Amino acid sequence: MTSPAWLESWSPDDGAQRVRDLFGRSFPAVGAPDGVWSAPGRVNLIGEHTDYNGGLALPTALPHRTYVALRRRDDDVVRLASAQAPGELWQTRLADVAPGAVTGWGAYVAGVAWALAKDGHDVSGFDAVVDSCVPFGAGLSSSAALECAVAVALDEVHQLGLAADDAGRAALVSACVRAENEVAGAPTGGMDQAASLRCTAGHALLVDSRPGLSALESGTPVPFDLEPARLTLLVVDTRAEHALVDGQYAERRASCERAASLLGVETLRDVAPEALEGALVALEPHDPDGVLRRRVRHVVTEIARTAQFVALVRDGRVTEVGPLMNASHASLRDDYEVSARELDLVVDSAVGAGALGARMTGGGFGGSAIALVRVEDVETVVTVVQAAFDDAGLTAPGFLLAPPSAPAL
Ligand code: GLA
Repeated sequence: MTSPAWLESWSPDDGAQRVRDLFGRSFPAVGAPDGVWSAPGRVNLIGEHTDYNGGLALPTALPHRTYVALRRRDDDVVRLASAQAPGELWQTRLADVAPGAVTGWGAYVAGVAWALAKDGHDVSGFDAVVDSCVPFGAGLSSSAALECAVAVALDEVHQLGLAADDAGRAALVSACVRAENEVAGAPTGGMDQAASLRCTAGHALLVDSRPGLSALESGTPVPFDLEPARLTLLVVDTRAEHALVDGQYAERRASCERAASLLGVETLRDVAPEALEGALVALEPHDPDGVLRRRVRHVVTEIARTAQFVALVRDGRVTEVGPLMNASHASLRDDYEVSARELDLVVDSAVGAGALGARMTGGGFGGSAIALVRVEDVETVVTVVQAAFDDAGLTAPGFLLAPPSAPAL
C-alpha cells in the first residue's frame, strides 16, 4: 500500500505569490493587481441538507483557501484566468451576464459581480486570476470559496465596506448565493457561502436558515477548539465524483418543498421534533412509496441533532458528539439517500478504527467524509481507511486536517 496522500493547505504568502505570478503571466499589459484576496472551503460538522429547509447547520472554515488576484477595469469587461485551466482566458462583459447566459467556472465569478450590481452597487469590469488548494469536486465548497474570494475582492476595490462587519458579510453571502443559484444554476442552500464569509478561526458557525431572520440571528459563532480534548477533525476526500448541478440535489430540494407545502408549513423547519410522527401520518396518503416521509424524517431529526451537538459543544462535552455524527450519517444514507459506497466505507472503517464519530459532509453523492479522532489515533484511522479502499479496489482517498480557520479576507 502506498503512503497516504495528505492534501496540504498553502500558507497565505504562498497562495498570494502564486496568484500574483499568474496575474503577471496572464495579463502582462495591465500592470500589477490591485490586491490579493482569499476565501476558505468548509466542512460541515453536522446539519446536512437542512439549509434549504430553513434549518440549522454547523460548518467550520478549512485552512484550504482559494486565492484571487484582481485588478479593477474602467470598462465592463471581465477577463479571468485560472491555474486550474491553464492557457484559457474566460471573458465576458458585465452587460451580458444574466441567468442562463454564461456558463463554465467563470459564471461563479461574473455571477457575484452581477448579484452585487442587482443589489444596487456600482461594480465595474475586472481582470482576475484564481488558484486554489481547496480540493476540487470534493464536497468541500470549492465553488463557494471562489465566489466569496471574488466577493471580498470586489467589496474592497469598489469600497462597498460590506466585508468590514458581520452584517455586511451576510449581505455578501446573499450575493454569492444568488450568483450560484441564478447565474451558475446550482440550486444550493447558502450554508457554504455563510461558512466561507462568516466563520472565524477557532469557531464553528451555527447557521440558522429560518426565513426572515436578521443577519445577526442567522449566524452565531460557537467556540470549537478540539485541542484541550486531544481530538482532531480528519477529513477524507473519497475522490468519488460529486456534482451539485446535477438533478439529484435539485430533486431532494423539490421533495422537501413539496412535503412542506402538503403539510401547510413554510419550510420543514416548522415541523417540530414532537410533531414529526403526526406529519408523517399526514403525508401518508400523498406518498405511496414513502420517499417524502423518509426525506422529512431526515430533515426534522437532523435539525434536532444539530441543536444537540451545539448544546454538547457549548457545555464542554465535545467528546460526546460522536453518536450524533454517526446517527446523522445513517439518516443521510438511509432516509435522505445521498451517501455513496465510498462515504459509507470511510465512516464504517474510521469508526471501526476508533474514531469517536464519522459522517459524510456536504451535499453527498461522493465527496468527503469527516471523522472525529483522538490525536493519538489519527495514524491508525488513516491507515485503516486507506486499506479499506485498497481492499475494495477503489482509488486511494486524500486526507486533510481541518482546524477551524479564518474567513474570506
Ligand atoms: C451543498 C450545498 C449546501 C447544503 C449542502 C448539504 O454543500 O451547497 O447549500 O445544502 O450541500 O447540507
